[in-house]
Amino acid sequence: MGPETWTAVDDYITGQLVEPDPALDGALDASRQAGLPPIHVAPPQGKFLHLLARIAGARTVLEVGTLGGYSTIWLARALPPGGRLVTLELDEGHAELARANLAAAGLSDVVELRVGRATDALAALDEEGAGPFDLVFIDADKASTPTYFELSLKLVRPGGIILVDNVVRDGALVQEGTGDEGALGMRRFHELAGHRQGVQATTIQTVGVKGYDGFTLVLVDGA
Ligand SMILES: C[S@@+](CC[C@H](N)C(=O)[O-])C[C@H]1O[C@@H](n2cnc3c(N)ncnc32)[C@H](O)[C@@H]1O
Repeated sequence: MGPETWTAVDDYITGQLVEPDPALDGALDASRQAGLPPIHVAPPQGKFLHLLARIAGARTVLEVGTLGGYSTIWLARALPPGGRLVTLELDEGHAELARANLAAAGLSDVVELRVGRATDALAALDEEGAGPFDLVFIDADKASTPTYFELSLKLVRPGGIILVDNVVRDGALVQEGTGDEGALGMRRFHELAGHRQGVQATTIQTVGVKGYDGFTLVLVDGA
């Protein structure tokens, strides 16, 4: 058993549980055609994000790392009428494609896309008093995850959720002497989440079409 099996099972899960959808499938096609790196969440993971937002009753979502807007569409579709989603993206080319994909999904009025460094954007959101957010999804440059986590804690409401993607990184998370900046970032993030008062966190390892990885779910105390 290995990557081929993981991919076959992911394809099976997608076929059984993730209905074809013109906006979501179109966003992936457009991203592929535009040459974006295939680093979006897999369809079952996108649906997981959607279900998590619905279970949490999220009305406000903050996303760090938009790419072509695939996970953005999944999350925005979980919002009730009047809900809003802010998504942050560094790359203007990615943002341009995401805007088109969000428009095709009929979500332009729900989603605010801010272009620039996420560190700056998160600080600006805090200064503007743009929070609190019910759910934050962190999925940008992995080395900066500890910073995004700290800044997100200022923006998420008590009782809110932070989900961090790609935290296991093919096991590099625990490999001594790894030079993988992303893995080192995820190690620092785990230390922060483990020692921080007022949060509860756990990490789930995953395999699938994206290989061997995992995500961390953080619940901020209070409600
Ligand atoms: C893994 S992709 C996001 C995938 C997306 N969440 C999805 O699943 O469809 C990471 C994105 O973060 C963006 N990014 C990288 N560094 C960033 C930074 N410093 N600030 C904001 N975005 C950044 C990249 O350009 C890329 O589009």
